[in-house]
Amino acid sequence: MKLFDVYPINPINIVKAQGSYVWDENGVQYLDMYGGHAVISIGHTHPLWVRRIEEQLNKIAFYSNSVQIPIQQELADKLGKVSGKQDYQLFLCNSGAEANENALKLASFHTGRKKIIAFKKSFHGRTSLAVAATDNPAIVAPVNETDNVIFLPLNDEKAVQLCFNKNEDQIAAVIVEGIQGVGGIIEAEESFLQTIRQLCDANGAVFIADSVQCGYGRSGKFFAHDYAGINADIYTMAKGMGNGFPIGGVLIAPHIKPKHGMLGTTFGGNHLACAAALAVLEVIATDDLIEQSRQKGQYLKNRLKTIDGIENIRGKGLMVGFDVPPALKDLKKKLLSDFFVFTGEAKPNVIRLLPSLAITRKQIDEFLEALKDAIEEIKHGETVTA
Ligand SMILES: Cc1ncc(COP(=O)(O)O)c(C=O)c1O
Repeated sequence: MKLFDVYPINPINIVKAQGSYVWDENGVQYLDMYGGHAVISIGHTHPLWVRRIEEQLNKIAFYSNSVQIPIQQELADKLGKVSGKQDYQLFLCNSGAEANENALKLASFHTGRKKIIAFKKSFHGRTSLAVAATDNPAIVAPVNETDNVIFLPLNDEKAVQLCFNKNEDQIAAVIVEGIQGVGGIIEAEESFLQTIRQLCDANGAVFIADSVQCGYGRSGKFFAHDYAGINADIYTMAKGMGNGFPIGGVLIAPHIKPKHGMLGTTFGGNHLACAAALAVLEVIATDDLIEQSRQKGQYLKNRLKTIDGIENIRGKGLMVGFDVPPALKDLKKKLLSDFFVFTGEAKPNVIRLLPSLAITRKQIDEFLEALKDAIEEIKHGETVTA
């Protein structure tokens, strides 16, 4: 049987990982500035994370949500403490798309309305409603097309106000990333998020903060939306939540009431996923990784500003992006093939940096040296190996 060929993959077989490094089958060491797409929060194969999963595996890995699973409550308590949203409720699922799918459904159940405001260049996932709220027609199948999602320009407060006026009593939710990731590290302005909060309050709509990529401490606060000093009604999370163990979550404000059967999942909140997620939160708290992310991100951005050839350095914490001029279009490829550094990208010309929150300054320096050298080599006409 062949694999369904949907990914443009690099011909690299990673067989080992530790902290911010991974190794391929030939023993070549790579620096991971991509964090496996913002997933690695506490570092690859963190010893506590491995131990907790092993211990849990030897007790029980899975039983369905038809019985009590006390480790879910343990996770909710710890998550409430670390995120500062102690009075919220937690629904557990398996991925970012599923978290957003449930958040959007919940907003519709709660308000009895159908229309969603989303933003240009947004990415919310590939399931039916999440993809309908994603601004990329190429990944929306005909069956997912709907008039219920209205796309507006990010950071255009007037457009949101006008849209609420025009669709009086019809808007169920506004969904917004605190920092757009796939869109190219574009920050939602604090005043924009505050305006969304006011408009949702005034119009009885639900504010959904998609924190799948920018959340879990990556931005230097637990949620990137926290910089605006507002509380969303719903936060969605995944990626960094399990440090690579698949788990997603929806944080739900107390005024949104649950009903039996309203949401559900077979695998969501299983014992093993909760053990992984608890280990992540424990390391985030004991190693002060949110503050570490803020400080290291600032250091990384400051140092990037001294490098010639790259432009428009932006982002918060360890969610950093910069533009690459056409002459350096092969920079990402060069970094990987000749300098053994993984980075992310956003089309057409953005490099995204999403390393583990536990990356060291030494490793950041190592990246910066590689970046400088790669730029120099491209400028001097050296070809990219692969
Ligand atoms: C902001 C955001 N929301 C949702 C998703 C979807 O997450 P998943 O791939 O886990 O379904 C992503 C994935 O990149 C994302 O960046």
